[in-house]
Amino acid sequence: MKNLRSILIFLCCSATSFAQNPHTPALKIDCASCHSPEGWAIASQYWENGEMVNPSLENPFSHDQTNFELTGRHNQIDCRDCHETLVFQQAQPACISCHTDLHQMTVGDDCARCHSTQHWLVDNITQLHVDNGFPLLGNHAIADCRDCHTSETDLRFDRIGNECLECHLDEYRATTMPDHTASGFSTDCVMCHDMTGLSWLWEIGGANHLFFPLTGGHQINDCAACHTNGNFSNTPTDCFACHQDDYAATTSPNHQAAGFPTDCNLCHTTGPGWQATDFKQHDQQYFPIFSGKHNGEWNECSECHTTPGNFKAFSCIDCHEHNDPQDLAKEHDDVSGYQYVSQACYECHPKGDE
Ligand code: HEC
Ligand code: HEC
Ligand code: HEC
Ligand code: HEC
Ligand code: HEC
Ligand code: HEC
Ligand code: HEC
Ligand code: HEC
Ligand code: HEC
Ligand code: HEC
Ligand code: HEC
Ligand code: HEC
Ligand code: HEC
Repeated sequence: MKNLRSILIFLCCSATSFAQNPHTPALKIDCASCHSPEGWAIASQYWENGEMVNPSLENPFSHDQTNFELTGRHNQIDCRDCHETLVFQQAQPACISCHTDLHQMTVGDDCARCHSTQHWLVDNITQLHVDNGFPLLGNHAIADCRDCHTSETDLRFDRIGNECLECHLDEYRATTMPDHTASGFSTDCVMCHDMTGLSWLWEIGGANHLFFPLTGGHQINDCAACHTNGNFSNTPTDCFACHQDDYAATTSPNHQAAGFPTDCNLCHTTGPGWQATDFKQHDQQYFPIFSGKHNGEWNECSECHTTPGNFKAFSCIDCHEHNDPQDLAKEHDDVSGYQYVSQACYECHPKGDE
């Protein structure tokens, strides 16, 4: 009898305790880490921020012991909101296991890439676009999300693609000034247009005329001066093609008479005023001025060519008067035929040295 009673009591007790454990035996944590002798219910003031705070518990449970730290809003909700069945192991850590993907799989299932547990607002939209290789600049920064994300719901972000053409094909086709299709322009808009710009129009000085840098006298906003009739194709790059008349009209010096080549680049840059700052030929052909003793000793061509418009005429003595004529004469003491005349200086010193 005694045996039977103790067996019954044992069965009864173990049956009760089994019936009383809704967490299943898989839970290896001591009941007393969460429950107090007051009863199975756990009043909400006895736990906060994922920790049991009932002072009568000896070894209080903290959610940090699990693989899922409670942060943000998750700290303020009830255990049962996540552990409805009270079988704790059933809860999965992935956000999507508890939260509905309102984006309908258009941005993947890694919600934490954009969201925190504080709230659903996304504060890194700017960075998000940078990461996608499409920084929102210029007009794109002030456009409405919906102008680009045109899916049926505001929360679907179906892939669009970063190519300008994806969104601007109609504008490309509608162009008239110039007609892009007829001109055979590339559909890679950034070749000519600035994504950071506020319009399709061009601002000279930007990086958008690299095929023929518009420097110096070419820094003009009048595109038609070079691109006649709105035709941007087949524009010549040879200086002479556009400046033939200027060449023919030269008087100082008269280029044709001087037999100057029509390769303007030899002597000119695009710097305004047609100064011949690159006239390196001067050294071999006439007199070293970019090399030798006179390199760096003059500022204006007119210091030698003192008669305006006549490069045949030159003066040495206007400059060499700092050498007292008397001193100069002394230096030429033993030089027969010495004269204080520029033409004579040049004849004896054709390279400007001894
Ligand atoms: C990690 C903390 C934790 C541990 C450990 C724990 N429980 Fe619980 N238990 C809870 C929570 C939370 C509830 C829900 C309380 C509420 O809703 O007020 C609960 C509820 C219960 C209930 C009431 C069920 C219901 O439907 O209301 C019983 C019975 C229970 N636990 C038994 C046990 C037993 C037995 C053990 C030890 C084997 C145990 N619990 C271990 C947290 C725990
Ligand atoms: C925001 C949801 C959320 C809330 C609120 C929450 N938990 Fe959890 N809990 C989880 C997730 C998810 C896991 C699973 C982590 C993992 O993968 O191991 C977990 C794991 C556990 C585990 C470990 C189970 C095991 O043995 O592996 C226990 C115990 C637990 N929670 C108890 C609680 C208690 C008690 C509360 C209330 C005080 C609570 N949880 C509140 C989400 C939550
Ligand atoms: C085990 C279930 C569970 C998991 C996993 C989980 N949550 Fe929650 N979360 C909840 C519950 C339950 C609530 C409170 C009810 C609600 O607002 O949906 C909540 C609330 C939130 C809220 C507050 C919503 C509001 O309106 O205030 C945010 C934000 C949130 N969770 C983000 C996340 C993120 C991000 C992840 C992944 C890192 C995540 N959750 C993982 C269950 C979970
Ligand atoms: C690539 C970024 C991104 C990812 C990944 C992402 N979301 Fe969002 N989510 C957003 C944006 C953007 C919004 C709009 C909120 C805003 O304008 O601040 C949003 C809004 C929400 C909202 C609030 C909706 C409303 O009506 O206010 C919920 C809920 C949400 N997301 C859930 C999720 C869940 C669940 C996941 C994972 C399955 C997820 N999101 C993944 C970007 C993302
Ligand atoms: C000028 C066009 C444009 C505007 C305006 C714009 N986006 Fe985007 N967005 C894009 C492009 C392009 C991508 C790159 C991904 C793709 O191909 O869809 C993108 C990507 C995204 C993604 C997905 C990121 C990912 O990693 O999966 C989200 C979310 C997003 N945008 C939200 C927004 C929100 C919210 C706004 C308004 C505040 C906004 N976007 C405004 C063009 C735009
Ligand atoms: C995801 C769609 C999308 C993509 C991709 C896109 N844009 Fe836009 N773009 C817009 C929207 C929307 C606007 C503002 C509304 C408008 O003016 O059409 C805009 C405006 C512009 C404007 C100003 C137009 C005006 O009339 O003032 C320029 C310039 C521009 N985009 C250039 C580009 C370039 C260059 C690219 C490629 C690098 C590009 N866009 C890619 C959607 C896009
Ligand atoms: C080879 C250079 C080049 C390329 C490539 C190019 N454009 Fe243009 N686009 C121009 C020029 C030049 C203008 C006239 C600018 C001005 O008047 O300031 C122009 C003007 C425009 C205009 C306004 C003029 C009108 O008639 O409406 C739009 C819109 C335009 N482009 C759209 C595009 C789009 C979209 C792309 C890419 C799909 C593109 N362009 C590619 C050179 C180019
Ligand atoms: C000083 C002369 C000059 C001016 C001014 C000028 N361009 Fe050009 N442009 C050229 C030359 C030369 C080429 C041809 C480059 C080549 O083929 O290598 C060219 C080429 C182009 C092209 C490329 C055409 C193609 O088929 O690839 C475009 C577009 C263009 N210019 C637009 C403009 C616009 C817009 C303006 C006014 C804002 C302008 N240009 C002002 C000389 C000029
Ligand atoms: C061998 C050198 C050389 C070459 C080649 C050359 N020039 Fe000149 N050019 C000069 C010199 C020297 C001047 C006078 C510079 C000064 O006054 O500073 C000049 C001045 C000019 C002037 C202003 C003087 C005037 O009489 O109007 C124009 C215009 C001019 N050049 C156009 C051209 C053009 C166009 C080409 C090419 C088709 C060209 N040049 C090729 C050397 C050259
Ligand atoms: C497609 C036609 C075109 C080509 C090619 C071209 N130019 Fe010009 N250039 C112009 C136009 C248009 C102007 C501005 C109007 C003017 O002064 O004639 C100009 C202006 C200049 C000026 C400024 C003249 C002044 O009065 O200040 C210089 C210098 C010049 N170009 C040099 C060159 C040189 C050097 C080359 C060859 C590398 C060259 N250009 C090629 C069209 C062209
Ligand atoms: C240090 C003196 C000096 C300077 C500075 C100088 N020249 Fe000369 N240049 C000469 C001399 C000397 C001759 C040779 C005259 C002769 O052979 O009749 C000459 C010849 C020329 C001729 C040929 C004239 C002809 O029709 O035969 C041209 C053109 C010319 N120079 C242009 C320039 C230009 C442009 C500059 C400024 C960039 C310049 N020179 C600076 C000394 C100078
Ligand atoms: C712009 C002023 C200037 C003009 C014009 C000028 N010179 Fe000079 N010349 C100098 C200066 C300064 C030196 C001294 C350079 C040095 O010591 O290295 C110099 C040095 C010389 C020397 C001495 C070289 C030596 O080895 O010490 C001779 C020779 C000479 N010049 C001849 C000429 C002749 C010939 C002309 C006319 C065609 C001329 N110079 C026009 C400024 C000028
Ligand atoms: C008939 C030839 C002749 C004429 C003309 C001539 N020189 Fe000389 N010059 C020489 C000779 C030779 C020397 C070298 C004398 C010596 O080293 O003793 C010299 C020396 C010089 C020196 C000094 C060089 C040094 O090493 O210090 C200068 C400066 C100079 N000449 C400038 C001129 C100027 C300026 C003129 C015109 C006013 C001129 N010469 C006319 C032949 C001439």
